[in-house]
Amino acid sequence: MAENRSLPFFIVPRVGLEPTRGCPHTVLNRARKPIPPPRRDLTLPKISLFVNSKNLCYGNLMARIISILNQKGGTGKSTTSVNLPVFLAAMGKRVLLVDFDSQANATFSLGIDPKKLPLSVYHALMGQVTPSAIIRKTSFFGYEIMPASPDLAGATVELVSLKDREFKLDQTLEKVKDSYDFIIIDSPPSLGLLTLNALVASKEILIPVQCEYLALEGLEQLLATIDLVKNNLNKEVKITGALLTMYNRGNRLSRDVAKEVRRNFPGYVFDAVIPRAIVLAEAPKFGKPILQYAPASLATKAYRELAEEIINLETYNLKPITQEE
Ligand SMILES: Nc1ncnc2c1ncn2[C@@H]1O[C@H](COP(=O)(O)OP(=O)(O)OP(=O)(O)O)[C@@H](O)[C@H]1O
Ligand SMILES: [Mg+2]
Repeated sequence: MAENRSLPFFIVPRVGLEPTRGCPHTVLNRARKPIPPPRRDLTLPKISLFVNSKNLCYGNLMARIISILNQKGGTGKSTTSVNLPVFLAAMGKRVLLVDFDSQANATFSLGIDPKKLPLSVYHALMGQVTPSAIIRKTSFFGYEIMPASPDLAGATVELVSLKDREFKLDQTLEKVKDSYDFIIIDSPPSLGLLTLNALVASKEILIPVQCEYLALEGLEQLLATIDLVKNNLNKEVKITGALLTMYNRGNRLSRDVAKEVRRNFPGYVFDAVIPRAIVLAEAPKFGKPILQYAPASLATKAYRELAEEIINLETYNLKPITQEE
């Protein structure tokens, strides 16, 4: 990412946080003393605090809401949506994953059977239940999911006749966003009403770009849709970055596509590159994120780097909450 986008901040360790089972801290600490199981009912502090070199205190008062979006199918949206939050949570962030695709791939990838879900994001979207009634904990401390079920496909039709139809997800998340540092939205492969809802609800967009033929196809249309949301719906949404996925180091095509994407989005392509890795395709079958399924893999390292980059960009959104002396 562009150099000037990350500032040197000292991160104050957050009170009361315990390492997640299986996270790197656990492995490091295991040699010294046994780690008690995570206390799931621990009340987390509501604000992340940062102190800079002048002792100015900065606070992140609201969740960063990031849509993982690309209307092209199979670019790694769901894989990124499921795996990124694990690393954000391991770094002490409270994260909610919103599965906003009726295929419910993200829900399934976390070991929840979408077909057996009595209530899902669809019911919260339609105002039939409160969002907190459908949110579930995952096996990672600090990582929760608002699951989807195939019912969501019906929402596309039902929303059309409703007032403020583009704002339904925004209104739903409004009720829970103070409880999280990050809300990650997995979007469907289209530019329909559900995607529009995801865009309106988000402050940031992360675009996974597959390192294959026609990788950039449709991106112009996506950028035009983001502009439309900004201008017509009066919503401030910015592109956090494009993420290169399914990168095959030994393949010249992958290298060419990566070069092309970096040329088209200068300063907006994450340094982290997600490799093509069979473990990423296998993990959903076992309902496990990559950190649990293959902790030592290159894919795990890549998603950890992505989480670090995203957290480093956080300083952008921070507002000073103490005065300079
Ligand atoms: N880095 C990777 N290496 C290998 N396989 C991957 C990788 N990322 C994703 N896959 C696999 O590629 C397929 C598509 O990935 P994924 O479901 O994440 O894409 P998507 O953009 O969410 O698709 P859709 O547009 O249908 O929602 C899945 O089978 C997934 O397991
Ligand atoms: Mg998907």
